[in-house]
Amino acid sequence: MTERTFSIIKPDATKRNLTGKINAVIEEAGLRIVAQRRIRMTQEEAEDFYDVHRERPFYGELVEFMISEPVVVQVLEGENAVARYREVMGATNPAQAADGTIRKLFALSVGENSVHGSDSADNAKIEIAQFFDASDIVG
Ligand code: CMP
Repeated sequence: MTERTFSIIKPDATKRNLTGKINAVIEEAGLRIVAQRRIRMTQEEAEDFYDVHRERPFYGELVEFMISEPVVVQVLEGENAVARYREVMGATNPAQAADGTIRKLFALSVGENSVHGSDSADNAKIEIAQFFDASDIVG
């Protein structure tokens, strides 16, 4: 089933000029980048985006990190894109990420972990809608 997922290339990665290398891993995995924009997230956008983590001890640090440098927001399309991208990203903590995954290759720590990907198709729709209009996405 062809579906879409939402991706963010995070500040630790944009700061180190890794956008192209991460996009190469995404494309080699068979996922198509059907929308992409480099933005500076506002504090309000970051707080809304991570609202489910509001009560976690790392919430403030997470929001500060996400607004510290530009990010690249993306829509990825492909077979089982949500699960496929989670495989390609690897475990949240890079110390536990499998060889060849984006986080194993590039992430610095559990916080500075280079990429975000939606955890379900329902959340993908919500996250995509926060950053893209339907006309921005060219499949
Ligand atoms: P992400 O997939 O963007 O969703 C929530 C984020 O919270 C996660 O990636 C991590 O970057 C971050 N996160 C999770 N656990 C911790 C932690 N213990 N300390 C700092 N950040 C964390």
